[in-house]
Amino acid sequence: MLDAITIRKLRAADRDLLAHTFEDWHKDYSQFDNYYLEQLLDKRLVLVAHHNQHGAVGYVTILWDSPYEQFWRRHIPEIVDLNVMTPYQRQGIGTALIHACEEQALERGYTVMGISVVQNEEYAAPNRLYPALGYVPDGFGITAHDNELHLVRLLITPNG
Ligand SMILES: CC(C)(COP(=O)(O)OP(=O)(O)OC[C@H]1O[C@@H](n2cnc3c(N)ncnc32)[C@H](O)[C@@H]1OP(=O)(O)O)[C@@H](O)C(=O)NCCC(=O)NCCS
Repeated sequence: MLDAITIRKLRAADRDLLAHTFEDWHKDYSQFDNYYLEQLLDKRLVLVAHHNQHGAVGYVTILWDSPYEQFWRRHIPEIVDLNVMTPYQRQGIGTALIHACEEQALERGYTVMGISVVQNEEYAAPNRLYPALGYVPDGFGITAHDNELHLVRLLITPNG
């Protein structure tokens, strides 16, 4: 499957594609348009997974300034809104999107990546996936207002 997937930065034309693909997930054009504008302003980076026959099948975004205070204070960018269409899940696309985010953060000089996940059974998949990719809780507990656990991963080894 991964052979058929290309991951690249959101382009203007992708807004329609993503809105169509993720229609049933209550994600609409305005959300992707907003993401595109935030990308132009360099607040957010959006990476899209394109299948060579089936079009956009997943995406993820990075907020360079996290809305979560503990990340923001430590200059830890946050992976936000990771989604892979159901028929394409469990084939490595989510992992590939996270790795692509980590590469982008490293290129910008960041050494730690952050990610947050709601603590309920609806989010069983990411709650299993992130620790498997080396993400550990940041130690500040679950934020009460959104029931999210916040995790971090070092992007470089102590020796660089
Ligand atoms: C989370 C998500 C992006 C993972 O994408 P993916 O392409 O399936 O991820 P990968 O194939 O790289 O990784 C699969 C791993 O994720 C976990 N996982 C995926 N689906 C799972 C499920 N239904 N139940 C439990 N664990 C699951 C497992 O650890 C799995 O590894 P395994 O197949 O070896 O057991 C995808 O499940 C998704 O879009 N979910 C809905 C939206 C969402 O929850 N986003 C995250 C918000 S924090």
